[in-house]
Formats: sequence, structure tokens, C-alpha cells
Amino acid sequence: MSKKILLSGIQPSGTLHIGNYFGAMKQFVDLQDKYDSHIFIADFHSLTTVQDRKTLEENILNVLLDYLAVGLDPEKVTLFKQSDVPEVTELAWIFNCITTMPYLERAVAYKDAHMKAKEVNVGLFDYPLLMAADILIQDADVVPVGQDQKQHIEYARDTAEKFNRIWGETFKIPEPLILETVAIVPGTDGRKMSKSYGNTIPLFASYEEIKKAVMGIVTDSSGGIPKNVYEIHKLFKEQGALDTLYAEKAGKYKDLKEALIEDIEAFIKPIREKRIALAENKEAVLAILKEGGQKARVKTSEKITDVRQKIGVALY
Ligand code: AMP
Ligand code: TRP
Repeated sequence: MSKKILLSGIQPSGTLHIGNYFGAMKQFVDLQDKYDSHIFIADFHSLTTVQDRKTLEENILNVLLDYLAVGLDPEKVTLFKQSDVPEVTELAWIFNCITTMPYLERAVAYKDAHMKAKEVNVGLFDYPLLMAADILIQDADVVPVGQDQKQHIEYARDTAEKFNRIWGETFKIPEPLILETVAIVPGTDGRKMSKSYGNTIPLFASYEEIKKAVMGIVTDSSGGIPKNVYEIHKLFKEQGALDTLYAEKAGKYKDLKEALIEDIEAFIKPIREKRIALAENKEAVLAILKEGGQKARVKTSEKITDVRQKIGVALY
């Protein structure tokens, strides 16, 4: 039996943090043997916010290095960037035409941006449909993501159903894959870790950066267990050892933070070193991405041909 298809992506819109890792990337790595995996860099999505050439180029390379450094193996995974697969944007347009405005207006990401009284660009408004195209064009069975992306997967499912209803069975209905224990990794202030809140611990932080971030974790003064420290520590230490430590050091916030710094450093050090080595070989790393894009297009061009026929634009 052939393997099921897994697909997921991350936007190259800034420095990745441990929330991205535990919420999403770790699953990409852990599942790469089990699934026929497609992992990509959502560069066209990030264009909704990153509108500077140099920054975008750097961010794309950074996400690629991050993927490889955490252990994605290009022999097992098709690693590519979204803009190398133009069939995706073509499909997104077709989805635009079968989707209503009020339906997209219900998207949480759009509502958030709108509430902040930002002038929302059309790309951001349309974000869920480009994402639906990413997923559906690859016939993905499962999409590993953090909790905040759940609604987007629902949009993809609804869009697949709608297309299938109008033009006949074409797209698979994808399932989200969300690990409850890490669905929402908290940041240093206890809210969801997010680059927009400035409460992150970068995935490839230096020792100094780890120290600074951990020392900045907001601790409440009630009780012996500093909740925000504990919740982050959980990601890096096995439950038994963690509880022993927090029982022994009850009330000693500084000691607990120092222990957390060492545990994060032990985790990050090897991947940080691997990343530095990879960065020295930029050409080879970019070649992996380019080849991945070509590989991804085999499937997407087949799929878009089928779609073009079904909707009635393929006359020759
Ligand atoms: P983004 O940085 O929004 O492109 O997110 C990339 C991936 O990381 C998505 O699957 C998110 O759901 C996931 N993610 C981002 N922040 C967190 C968090 N604090 N906890 C869990 N998953 C997260
Ligand atoms: N929206 C996702 C995020 O911010 C990135 C993304 C774009 C994605 N297309 C996707 C994730 C398709 C999974 C599948 O994290």
C-alpha cells in the first residue's frame, strides 16, 4: 500500500521560534518516514506582510536552513517553495470564484487584522484560499499544524467539498494533525508564543539569547511553581524529572530558570551547530530547494490539467 500524503508549510516571515518547532516542525521530522511528505516554504503567503526584497530572500534561505537543521531529510521529503509551483496560485484563483466574501470574512486571522484597524490587503483576506490550494493540489491526506491553523484547514476542507459538488469528485478532504500537548506553546509572558507578541524563544537562539529570554519569563508570585517557566520547561524535560526538580526547588525561581536555560541550551546546541555548517554551503542547500520544486510540480501539473478540464477551459 502506498503511503498517505502529508503536507505542511511555514511562512518565511521572521525568525522561527520553539512554538513553531514543537507545534509543527517536530511533527514534520517525526513523521517523515511514515508519510509521503511535502514540506514547503510559503513565500507567497508571507508577501502579505514582507515587502522587502532582501528580507524575503534572507527569510526564505533561513527557513530552508531551519528545516534541514532540525532534521528534515531531502531524501525522504519533498522540500520546496510555494512560488516554484505556480499551479497553486492558479488554483487559488479558481477557488476565489467559488467562494463568497462573507465566508472569508469569518476567518479569524482576517478578523484580527481588521480589528487592529490595519488596512488589510486582498492577499491577507484571500490567505485561506491560497492555503487551501497548497493543500488540495497535492492531494494531502494530513496537514500537521499548530492549533492556530485549524480554521484554515477547515476552509480547505469546505473548499474541496464545494469544488467537488460543482464539478465532480476531484479533491481529497484533508485532515488536520494537531498534537494536543503542544497545540499552543506558551511564550515568555504566558500568552501563545508568537513573533507578533515579542514573547518568543528563537529556535536557533545563542546561549546569550536563551538566557535573556528565560530571565524575562514573567513569573507570578503566588505558589512555589512559576507556571510560565514550568509550561516551557515541559517541552524540554521528561515529566518525572521535571516534577522532581520543581518539587525540590519550589519557590526558587532563579534556580528553576537557570535549570531551564541549561535544558534549552542542551537541546538547541547541536541543531545550532548543524545549521552553521549547512549555511556554509549555500549553493548545495538552494539546489535541494530547486529540485524539490521540480519534483512537486509533477503532481501539481497533472492535477491542474484535470481541474482545467473539469471547469471547462481546456479546449485543446
Ligand atoms: P507561522 O509562524 O504562523 O507561520 O506558524 C508556523 C507553524 O507553527 C504553524 O503550524 C503554526 O500553527 C505553528 N505555531 C506557531 N506558533 C505556535 C505556538 N505558539 N504553539 C504551537 N504551534 C505554533
Ligand atoms: N498558514 C500557515 C502558517 O502560518 C502556513 C501555510 C501556508 C500552510 N500554506 C499551508 C500550512 C498549507 C499548512 C498547509 O503557519
